[in-house]
Amino acid sequence: MRRGGSLCSGFYGDRALALETDATLPLPTPPTHGLPARRLAWEVLLAVAAGAYADVALERALRDQSLTGPDRSLATELAYGSIRRRRWLDAWLDRLGRVPAHKQPPKLRWLLHLGLYQLFWMERIPPSAAVNTSVELAKSVGLTKLAPVVNGVLRAALRAHQAGETLPMPDDLGERLALQHSLPDWFTTLLLQWRGEAGAEAVATACNRLPGLDLRVNRLRATTQHVAEAFADAGLSTQPIPDCPDGLEVLNHRGDLRSWPGYDQGHWSVQDRSAQWVAPLLNPLPGHRILDACAAPGGKATHLAELIGDQAEIWAVDRSAGRLQRVAANAARLGIAGLQALAADATELCQMRPEWQGCFQRILIDAPCSGLGTLARHPDARWRMTPAAIQQLLPLQQELLKGVLPLLAPAGQLVYATCTIHPAENSQQIEHLVTACPELQVLSQHQRWPDDANGGDGFYAAVLERCR
Ligand SMILES: C[S@@+](CC[C@H](N)C(=O)[O-])C[C@H]1O[C@@H](n2cnc3c(N)ncnc32)[C@H](O)[C@@H]1O
Repeated sequence: MRRGGSLCSGFYGDRALALETDATLPLPTPPTHGLPARRLAWEVLLAVAAGAYADVALERALRDQSLTGPDRSLATELAYGSIRRRRWLDAWLDRLGRVPAHKQPPKLRWLLHLGLYQLFWMERIPPSAAVNTSVELAKSVGLTKLAPVVNGVLRAALRAHQAGETLPMPDDLGERLALQHSLPDWFTTLLLQWRGEAGAEAVATACNRLPGLDLRVNRLRATTQHVAEAFADAGLSTQPIPDCPDGLEVLNHRGDLRSWPGYDQGHWSVQDRSAQWVAPLLNPLPGHRILDACAAPGGKATHLAELIGDQAEIWAVDRSAGRLQRVAANAARLGIAGLQALAADATELCQMRPEWQGCFQRILIDAPCSGLGTLARHPDARWRMTPAAIQQLLPLQQELLKGVLPLLAPAGQLVYATCTIHPAENSQQIEHLVTACPELQVLSQHQRWPDDANGGDGFYAAVLERCR
């Protein structure tokens, strides 16, 4: 029997001839260059398919294996890119075979995704290297019998790509956007409702943009100029971020950021420019008592402390005791003393701390949300989130708003923020709240979209004030 012949004809019917022909060709000379990075990326795809978060799975895999700097970058790009383009890559697998991608053995499916991603999306990788390393990867992970299939599928894909073939596009606009930009149908349907055709296309494109790396300089310990100079001395170029007074964008980031100048000294934190926009909306003043009701890992709570020279009593509350440890660690690294962490369900704070009634001049609710504004940063989130899961978040967001409201002082201000673009989680929540609580006045609300010219994640914030 031909090598892999039965598998080829079984899995890849309408392209069977081409694939079987290819599968009978001698397999390529084994390459070793870049194989560990590809294997790591493949393991991340498997872990994510089993339910892990992509960033957590990648960080763990990178920690466990000693890859060089360029190999770490390659593994990251391969893993994130393949997860991001999952739907589009599946469509190619569907096109190249009879058995749909989702019915293939997962180990093979993710391995083929990596190969296809390199062929279609990574111009700097020669096609021969993409095919050869994929075949070699198959052999090294116990898929030796499927190596000819890998070879056949990828060579067929390469021929199609070189011949300028494209995926057939559905007539339905939402489905077309979803396939083209590798997004779920329900999401592009909503985008069309919210933003119309051009806007939906712009947001869908932005969901696949490589996210930048923004820093927030810690005013308590450094200046943007000081950090920019230290980075330049270390060969890292930065540029200021428009409308973001403490922000610096790192342009050529590489390596472990904890080794960059000033990290141990607390000179800066990593924080997207849209997230940096939230804390100043509270207009915090020295001497204020401030509650951050959903604080972990502490990005905005520490920003608040920095903005007022660490001259306030800030309570960082979060339901997750584990994540709260990161608030304490971040505050310690940044040299912040006035921040106290409390593990608690913020919806029950009134009962837990009756003495807090009406005592906070500022309250921030950075609510748990669908994260639809951060799809570029979290490549797996689009496959994790569902309309049903969003519906389940709405009551929690309402309970958080209603739960902490009695803690707001007269004339105090509350900021409700999310990193989503879904109106049901944003403006509609605020509409419900002010209808139920006439003592509240909306001072401002603003939606930042992922396709905004200033870049950054999609974010929403409303500033509310309690009448005296
Ligand atoms: C968007 S994250 C907060 C990010 C944080 N503000 C920052 O800037 O680093 C939402 C947080 O809400 C917390 N959370 C969810 N439900 C909660 C509840 N009922 N009470 C308190 N915290 C809650 C989650 O544990 C999560 O850490």
